Amino acid sequence: MKLLHIDSSITGTNSVSRALTQFVVDQLRQQNDQVQVEHVDLALNPPPHFSADSLGMRLGLDPATLTDRQRAENAITEQYLEQFLASDVVVIGAPFYNFTIPSQLKAWMDRLAQAGRTFRYTSNGPEGLAGDKTVYLVLSRGGIYSESEQGQAMEHQESYLRVMFGFMGVTDLRIVYAEGLGKAPELRDQIIDNAKASVSALLEKSVA
Ligand SMILES: Cc1cc2nc3c(=O)[nH]c(=O)nc-3n(C[C@H](O)[C@H](O)[C@H](O)COP(=O)(O)O)c2cc1C
Repeated sequence: MKLLHIDSSITGTNSVSRALTQFVVDQLRQQNDQVQVEHVDLALNPPPHFSADSLGMRLGLDPATLTDRQRAENAITEQYLEQFLASDVVVIGAPFYNFTIPSQLKAWMDRLAQAGRTFRYTSNGPEGLAGDKTVYLVLSRGGIYSESEQGQAMEHQESYLRVMFGFMGVTDLRIVYAEGLGKAPELRDQIIDNAKASVSALLEKSVA
């Protein structure tokens, strides 16, 4: 089993999402000693933002006409895409920054969303092509957004990731929540423990 472990928090050893993605990966290793883990740290090595040069692949240009810069951009996209497509399980740490995900994680998602690879357009509308994976999302948040309509309207982290992975055909999405981390510092350990406790039920769901 190939497991892709993605972190995107900028808070290093203080990061809650990093601690929790590591916990999920460790649990998955215990379940399956054949697991091969690849770790990608998007905060340390962020994918470049999309630019005119990184759109070459999407526009289906004749490879012979591409500039060196466009080839280099396509190679970056291809590397992330192949790694994602080859994985059976993906564990993603997605902290909540300014009401959404870190721009490093958004830049990675932008590299994955490629017509003909992770989705395609059909006469019945778009169809996801990456539905063979289980994706764990670890969502860490300073505030609490899940408990009210107002909170849900303000959050563009879970809602965005659900749309993007749904669009790519992923139906087996398993979510670990660590909410309210900024409300009272003394509750932090309890929130992390509760998040860890929720993982065992997620692991027990049958693999897609
Ligand atoms: C740059 C930045 C922006 C943040 N913006 C928000 C926010 O809009 N709403 C919120 O509830 N918490 C916000 N937080 C708090 C984080 O969601 C919280 O610290 C969480 O633990 C981040 O995950 P991490 O510990 O893995 O970095 C922000 C934190 C940082 C560093």
